[in-house]
Amino acid sequence: MPVITEIEDLRRIYKRRTPKMFYDYCESGSWSEQTFRENMSDFDQIRLRQRVAVDMTGRSTATQMIGQDVAMPVALAPVGSTGMQHPDGEILAARAAEKFGVPYTLSTMSVCSVEAVAEATTKPFWFQMYTMRDHGFMKRMIARAKEAKCSALVLTLDLQILAQRHKDLKNGLSIPLRPSLHNIVDLATKWRWIAGMARTRNRQFGNIVGHIDGISDMSSLSAWAAESFDPKLDWNRVKEIKKDWGGPLILKGILDAEDAKMALKVGADAIIVSNHGGRQLDGAISSIRALPEIMDAVGDKIEVHLDSGIRSGQDVLKAVALGAKGTFIGRAYIYGLGAMGQQGVTKALEVIHRELDMSMALCGRREIGSVDRDILLVPEGFSGHWA
Ligand code: GLV
Repeated sequence: MPVITEIEDLRRIYKRRTPKMFYDYCESGSWSEQTFRENMSDFDQIRLRQRVAVDMTGRSTATQMIGQDVAMPVALAPVGSTGMQHPDGEILAARAAEKFGVPYTLSTMSVCSVEAVAEATTKPFWFQMYTMRDHGFMKRMIARAKEAKCSALVLTLDLQILAQRHKDLKNGLSIPLRPSLHNIVDLATKWRWIAGMARTRNRQFGNIVGHIDGISDMSSLSAWAAESFDPKLDWNRVKEIKKDWGGPLILKGILDAEDAKMALKVGADAIIVSNHGGRQLDGAISSIRALPEIMDAVGDKIEVHLDSGIRSGQDVLKAVALGAKGTFIGRAYIYGLGAMGQQGVTKALEVIHRELDMSMALCGRREIGSVDRDILLVPEGFSGHWA
C-alpha cells in the first residue's frame, strides 16, 4: 500500500481504480474550466502569517456548524452519483464522516437512497435538495428526509439548468454505466470496481427510481433527469420549501452579496458560498475571492460556509480565517472514496485534519475559534474592485 500523505496521493489511486467516465465527471469544470482552476489557484494567493514561541499544547479544531458539534469545520459536500465512484459510495462516505465527527450531505441524485444511508448509519446526516418541476415529488422527498432523521436541508440554488461539461458529453455519461465499445477497454482494467458493483443492489438513482411514476428503468430516467430540474426556482419557492421542511436550512450556491442578503431575508440558517466546484457558470469568480464581500454584507447576521477549491487543511484554515464558520469538501473525499472506499474517505479527512491542526498551530493559534483574519496575508485587491 503506498504511503498516503496528501490528497493528491488519493487522486492518483482513484484515477487508476475508477471507470474513466466517472473520474472525468468528478474532475471537470464547465466549459473552459477557468473557474474550476481558479477555485484552487486563488487559495494559493493568500499566505499564512507565521508566528513563533507560542505554546502549542492542547489544540482543538472542534467547533459547530449550524449549532451541531463537528470535529473540524469541514462537512462532506453532496456529490451526485457517488455510488458510481465506488460501489455503495454514499453509505461508505456517510459512515466515514460519522466516525470522524463531521457532517455528511447526501445528494438528491445519490445512488444509495436516503433510507439506505439512514439504515447504515447511527447519527443524523444532512440532505441536499434540488428543486424539481414535480412539486409532489419534492414534498415526498422532504418527508422521506425527515423520516430518515436528516438534521439539515441543503438547498441547491445554482443548478436549475445543468452547465455543459465537455467530457461528460464526449464520454456519453450514463448511470448505470452502459458497456460500449468506447469504454469496454477502460472497464477491463477496473476489475475491483466491477466486482463491487456486481455485489451491490445500489446501481441506480435510489431516491428517484420507484418514487416517481414512470421511472422504473434507466432509459426513461436519463430523459427525466435532463428535464426534471425546475427552471422557475425563485426566492418565493425557496420560502415554500423552507416551510415544507421546517428544520435547519442551508442555501447552497451563493456567490454574490446581493443574493446573500436575499438568503438572509428568506430566513436561511446558513449559506454556502459556492460556484458548484466550477461546474456551473464558467468565468464566475472563485468562492474564496467572493467570501470577503459576502462576509461584509451578511457575516454578522447569518452563518457563512464555503465550498469549491478546498484540497487541504491550509485551504480550510484560510476560509475560516476569512470568516467561514464551516467548509465543504467534495472532490477531496471522492478521491479517497474511489481510491479505497470508506478507509479512503477517512484518510482524506485525516490528511485535512492534520494539515489544518498543524498549520493553525504554526500560525500561533490553538483553537479553531480563535482563528481570524489576523493570521492571513491577503494580496491587496484580492477581493477585487471589478468595474
Ligand atoms: C451536479 O451537482 C453536478 O455538478 O454534476
